[in-house]
Amino acid sequence: MTEMAQLEPLTGAEVPPGTGRRHLIGVSDLTAADIDRLLGTAATISRSLEREVKKLPALRGRLVINLFYESSTRTLSSFDLAAKRLSADTMAVRSSGSSVDKGESLKDTALTLAEYDPDVIVIRHPHIGAPQLVAAATRARVVNAGDGKHQHPTQALLDLYTMRASLGRLEGVHVAIVGDVLHSRVARSLIEALELVGARTTVVAPPTLVPRGIEAMGCEATSDIAAIAAADVVYVLRMQRERMLPGAAYVPSLREYAAEWGVTPERLRRGQVVMHPGPMNRGVEIDPRVADSGVSLITEQVRAGLVVRMAVLYDLLVGGAGAALEVE
Ligand code: CP
Repeated sequence: MTEMAQLEPLTGAEVPPGTGRRHLIGVSDLTAADIDRLLGTAATISRSLEREVKKLPALRGRLVINLFYESSTRTLSSFDLAAKRLSADTMAVRSSGSSVDKGESLKDTALTLAEYDPDVIVIRHPHIGAPQLVAAATRARVVNAGDGKHQHPTQALLDLYTMRASLGRLEGVHVAIVGDVLHSRVARSLIEALELVGARTTVVAPPTLVPRGIEAMGCEATSDIAAIAAADVVYVLRMQRERMLPGAAYVPSLREYAAEWGVTPERLRRGQVVMHPGPMNRGVEIDPRVADSGVSLITEQVRAGLVVRMAVLYDLLVGGAGAALEVE
């Protein structure tokens, strides 16, 4: 096959029947109905994982490649296990230790892996747009596991799953997202997803860590930490030092940030739940007494990551709007 032919994207006519979507690059690829279906599939899968034998045959003979150019614990491990629990073959390629170290480009890496005929490539990359490049260069379905500060759609889905499981609903829920929103792909995806399901979002952060014009995404923004008291869910974000411009001072110091913006027991009220996508910097954005308390849903988020990513892989390859997963 010529290079140009390999770069030709698939047309809709080549998409297998029963599958409406080719890729999951951002939350804008989803409708409210898609989210409802995916969360329903994840709930069905969750029940199936209560059995002694946890493997489902749905993706037998399929190949899922995890292509990670940035560090990850939760996303990589859960996509790997999700594919295995659905009986797919899996490969993990990390940029460190691969031929990326020798200067190989993302496009050449994608074209190389494409020769193994992957059904899905899950990609994490520091640059916005990397998932689209892989989608254009291969015939695989592409799932964005985080591109720069742009999008992390499966994180948003697992967060919605966790909120719905805890609160029993999503519509009308008020979520306060606290911390470094400026550098956060998690925040961008979650604000969009919450808007789709009819929830309300307030961003709470120092003015230096709020993107200009964020209200256009359908949320409110304030620099008053006391505003978190009005929310049902307090969603805490890490300071993403790896994405900050060298030498730029967004806050006077981490100690002052913790004192002014850290989520402590004293700043919470009874009845609230607390979430964090991880990894946490204990003692900075979140007090360990909150992280380890009964109001924390952080471990539930990790469990949700597995079943939601199983649902996403199933939905892209087998399900979609026409076919619900049946588990005996
Ligand atoms: N939340 C999240 O993306 O965690 P990892 O970086 O560990 O994958």
